[in-house]
Amino acid sequence: MLEGKKVVLAYSGGLDTSVCIKLFEERGAKPYALYVDLGQGESEVDVKGKALKIGAVDAFVRDAKAEFAEEYVAPAIKANALYGGKYPLFTALGRYLISGKLVETAREVGATHIAHGSTGKGNDQVRFDVTTASLAPDLTVVAPMRDWKMNRPQEIEYARKHGIPVPATKESPYSIDANLWGRSIEAGPLENPENEPKPEVYELTADLEEAPDDPQYVEIGFEKGLPVRLDGEKIPLVDLIRELNAVAGAHGVGRVDMIEDRLVGIKSREVYEVPAATVIIQAHRELESLTLTKDVLRFKALVEQRYAELTYEGLWFTPLKAALDAFIEETQKTVTGTIRLKLYKGNSTVAGRSAPKALYSKDLATYDPNSAFDESAAAGFISLWGLPARQWAQVHEGE
Ligand code: ARG
Repeated sequence: MLEGKKVVLAYSGGLDTSVCIKLFEERGAKPYALYVDLGQGESEVDVKGKALKIGAVDAFVRDAKAEFAEEYVAPAIKANALYGGKYPLFTALGRYLISGKLVETAREVGATHIAHGSTGKGNDQVRFDVTTASLAPDLTVVAPMRDWKMNRPQEIEYARKHGIPVPATKESPYSIDANLWGRSIEAGPLENPENEPKPEVYELTADLEEAPDDPQYVEIGFEKGLPVRLDGEKIPLVDLIRELNAVAGAHGVGRVDMIEDRLVGIKSREVYEVPAATVIIQAHRELESLTLTKDVLRFKALVEQRYAELTYEGLWFTPLKAALDAFIEETQKTVTGTIRLKLYKGNSTVAGRSAPKALYSKDLATYDPNSAFDESAAAGFISLWGLPARQWAQVHEGE
């Protein structure tokens, strides 16, 4: 049923998606490979050449780093988006961008199908499939690894048979996914949650034993909820993230080791390296606590949790997400100011905060007797505030 059909495949240059190209070709389809650069930091391999050599009709390489930062990471920063309170959702955000590019490319080449290399056990298949349904309900999605049930040994044998390069080095037991906003390490010995991750799994963050003995300060400047300055210098979001990955990572900041609830019901053990995401969200939250009212902060916390969940669960291009974005955007109008962080041995601590529209008032808060706060108003306020509690106690006295 794929005979003669044009299929646009999300291509990573790795084994799985290379095998996919060949599988499509073998079935008489016309595979187009699309590689999207999200800052995964892969060495300059010739992905285009590789895809064409395996049998792609055409191959496209798109640099989407700036778009990723501005259209996907930026809203996630404003939303303080952390799934399970810890995972900054970099993989999920990346899948939405790639899905959009797949649809775009399908339109350009007149394809009826798009394809991805996700398995049937993960979250990514949901993100790709639901996004395609949202953006282009007429397109059909194929996931060969899931739909045609290929296991690893079969895949390697198939690759060898068809001259697809299989990594020559003894394969790493780990499964890695990375982009600008973070890096994940899964599988191998990590599948046993009793095992501490070996130092070699980490690439972006220093071991605490190796981290510098002297602390380092960084100053992040925000405008309307987005980080735009680093140590006083204006800097594009992509560069700011890269820089903070390096600086915070060098101090061992940003390691996450968690048990995560996948959408398909599985609990999985995940190890993440997210130095920039950790300090940016920490600083952003801190600035919000200085510039937003108590009510907005409390309500936004509920929105943030829902936002993280829908981002995780494939629902980025949905009306709920758009509505929550509108709420969040409204809250960010006054989130402008600077947060100073101290990085030291795996910790990032807030060392200073300032904002032109800070709601904090020293005149009100001071313990100095000349405070602007009218203490005489407190007793009356508390008497009414406590009225329901007193009433309840009186009615139920002696029970
Ligand atoms: N658990 C994370 C998520 O579902 C990261 C997964 C990264 N691994 C992968 N094979 N895509 O978003």
